[in-house]
Amino acid sequence: VKHRTIRVDLGDRSYPVYLGDRVIASLGPLCRRHRGPDRIVVLADSNRARVALRKALASLTSAGFDPLPIIMPPGEQQKTPDRVSRIHAKMLAAGIPRQGAMLALGGGMVGDVAGFTAATYRRGLMLVQCPTTLLSQVDSSIGGKNGVNHPAAKNAVGTFLQPRFVLSDVRLLRTLPRRDLIAGVGEVLKYAFVGAPDLLDTIAGNIRAILRTDPETLLGIAARCLRVKARLVSFDEKELLQTRGRILLNAGHAVGHALESLSGYRIRHGEGVFLGLLVEGHLAWQRGWLPARTLRRLAGIYHDLGARFTLDEITDRALVRSLASGKSTRFVLPCGRGTVKVVHDVTEKELTEAIGAVRSFHFIDSR
Ligand SMILES: NC(=O)c1ccc[n+]([C@@H]2O[C@H](COP(=O)([O-])OP(=O)(O)OC[C@H]3O[C@@H](n4cnc5c(N)ncnc54)[C@H](O)[C@@H]3O)[C@@H](O)[C@H]2O)c1
Ligand SMILES: [Zn+2]
Repeated sequence: VKHRTIRVDLGDRSYPVYLGDRVIASLGPLCRRHRGPDRIVVLADSNRARVALRKALASLTSAGFDPLPIIMPPGEQQKTPDRVSRIHAKMLAAGIPRQGAMLALGGGMVGDVAGFTAATYRRGLMLVQCPTTLLSQVDSSIGGKNGVNHPAAKNAVGTFLQPRFVLSDVRLLRTLPRRDLIAGVGEVLKYAFVGAPDLLDTIAGNIRAILRTDPETLLGIAARCLRVKARLVSFDEKELLQTRGRILLNAGHAVGHALESLSGYRIRHGEGVFLGLLVEGHLAWQRGWLPARTLRRLAGIYHDLGARFTLDEITDRALVRSLASGKSTRFVLPCGRGTVKVVHDVTEKELTEAIGAVRSFHFIDSR
């Protein structure tokens, strides 16, 4: 089986990301190569990733491992401390030892829960990420961040645990619902402002190929994103830098996270980021930092993909309040191709104008 390999450089915790088409069958052999222990917990959610689970288990078993599948309910609402505790209970009951491993087979939700569960079980298990959504293949499966949601704040309870390796099979994206595919493109688009300016043209020029999950197209896109992220993670593993490093990957995320929370997670993470890039892009345009044509390009992609999520269920007041009232929320504004600006001084007035513009999509008409 052929894959492209992208390395995340972190000294003695460096690891490879294996990216390819129809590569899930190499999971078992790769676990061997990376000296995985016999007992491997495989965490998946109960959605349509069933096929992937069967293939993953078969590959592990035939390579001589003793996998323990644990299936959890799907959805962002499941990313809780309570869910982690239930998984720990199953692992304890099955006698998973400190030398065991945890494999995340699923999207970013499963990846985050698996990461946190592994990091906290008997003070840390070996972790393998096997992402099955576009979003998790281009972003959440690498970098070692994990976390679950606290009622008071998203991703508030979490830690860092870098995986031993990542195996990304774009073929698995074939069964992904269109809605989640488009949400993944939202996360991809942030990279157009952080190190991969060519992505805007790549996405705009390949809408149909993306929607039919063409493996070559998706491989090219994923590799592009992963190279950018791998570089940022390797010099800012714990997101400690304030003006460069991992912080830049939060473009679109101030508004995105607010939309996710305000909608009670009905707006998915990638959808929030997509809308967030539009609103924050408009903020940047108002300040003269983002060319109008780039903003229109972004809106054009949203339109051409046939995205269905909108700001409709969120009121201006609620959104402005959660972002501007009295607090100095940090925004990583998308500013032209390949650049962002980190600011803390976005005003209510600016926000109201940007939200209104995206709500009515006035700026798309002038394309
Ligand atoms: N740790 C990080 O660095 C990081 C980065 C970005 C996002 N995230 C987190 O990732 C999450 C979002 O990730 P996501 O969009 O992958 O969500 P998700 O994991 O909820 O997956 C989306 C949906 O797709 C289904 N699915 C997954 N793979 C499938 C497949 N191959 N075929 C059919 N259906 C499939 C899932 O069951 C789910 O219903 C959020 O919780 C976000 O906070 C984490
Ligand atoms: Zn994100």
